[in-house]
Order: sequence, then structure tokens, then C-alpha cells
Amino acid sequence: MKAVVVIVATLAMAAAHICMVSPRQRGTLQGLDKPGAADCIRLSPEPCGGQKSDGNTAIFKPGVNVSIIFQKNLNHWDQSTPGSFNIAIGDSEEKNFKTILSVKDTNSSSLTYYYPNITIPMEETKHAVMQLTYVTKNPKAPAVFYQCADFAITRE
Ligand SMILES: *[C@@H]1O[C@H](CO)[C@@H](O)[C@H](O)[C@H]1NC(C)=O
Ligand SMILES: *[C@@H]1O[C@H](CO)[C@@H](O)[C@H](O)[C@H]1NC(C)=O
Ligand SMILES: *[C@@H]1O[C@H](CO)[C@@H](O)[C@H](O)[C@H]1NC(C)=O
Repeated sequence: MKAVVVIVATLAMAAAHICMVSPRQRGTLQGLDKPGAADCIRLSPEPCGGQKSDGNTAIFKPGVNVSIIFQKNLNHWDQSTPGSFNIAIGDSEEKNFKTILSVKDTNSSSLTYYYPNITIPMEETKHAVMQLTYVTKNPKAPAVFYQCADFAITRE
């Protein structure tokens, strides 16, 4: 039993993971709160790690400040080259992403939740895409982890 645990832990350590909780990411959030959850690893291609849209999971009013929630599912901070978590908003074609927030990675432990505030754009749209990236800058980890969430911006 102990051997199995060690193997699982070793595999998990091979990759940092990131999950977007609110607005809810594409796909499911199974295994959240366990380091190395399969749904928290989306590696390629850009911009959404290959995960297709399954519809909007949030509606915001234009220009409001909202607190979003994501989880560093696995820590891959490297002291000499700290990475970052970045939020960008793009159009329904998954293009024209603009970075609206960048948070420096620290030695926070796996499963740490982040609740940064962002400002929603002013333009109304039936479908925009919020992209979260974990840029590790860690030579022992994949360079970038992706998650996307679909949402609308409307005054109503
Ligand atoms: C990072 O955090 C871990 C766990 O708390 C700790 O063991 C380690 O010493 C820390 N590393 C540095 C460089 O501070
Ligand atoms: C987010 O905004 C709320 C209220 O608008 C504020 O209380 C909170 O400190 C902000 N959080 C961050 C991380 O800036
Ligand atoms: C909304 O967030 C922005 C940063 O994105 C901040 O400059 C501004 O003060 C915030 N406004 C309110 C009302 O919290």
C-alpha cells in the first residue's frame, strides 16, 4: 500500500496543476482538493489546453468588480525563477486575449485557493472566454497550464 502511495505522489509531482473554480472552468472539477487532480491539468494547445466549451458558467454586468476563485492544485514554485498566475479575457473565437491580472507565484502549498478581484470589461457579449494560466518558469515542470471558463456580459 505504501509503495502505491509513493508512486502516485511521484507522478503528481511531475506536473504543477491549476483549477478554476469561479467562474467554473470547462469540464468538471472532479478530485479538486486532492493534489494532482486530473481535471486540473490542461497542457496544450493554447489557449484552453484543448478543452472545448460546454457553455457559459457565469453572467456578469459590464464593468463590475468580481472576486474570482482558483486553486493552485499542485505547487511548482521555483525559488530562483518564480512563475505567475494570469487571467486574460478573450472573445468567443478564443482570440484577442487581453491579460487583466497577474499574480506572482509564491511558495504557497498545493491546494491553496486564490480570490483575486478583477474588473469585467464594459462591452456586452453573449460569450467571452476567461483564461487562467499557471506559468511555472520551473525547468522541471511544464511551462504553462491552462484553464478556460465561458461567460456572458450583459446589463440585464
Ligand atoms: C516551501 O514550502 C515548503 C512547505 O511549506 C517548505 O518545506 C520549503 O522549505 C519551502 N521552501 C522555501 C525555499 O522556502
Ligand atoms: C476584493 O474586493 C473586496 C471588496 O470590493 C475587498 O474587500 C477585498 O479586499 C478585495 N480583495 C483583494 C484580493 O484585493
Ligand atoms: C475595481 O478593481 C480595480 C482593479 O481592477 C480597482 O482599481 C478599483 O478600485 C476597484 N473598484 C472598486 C469599486 O472596488
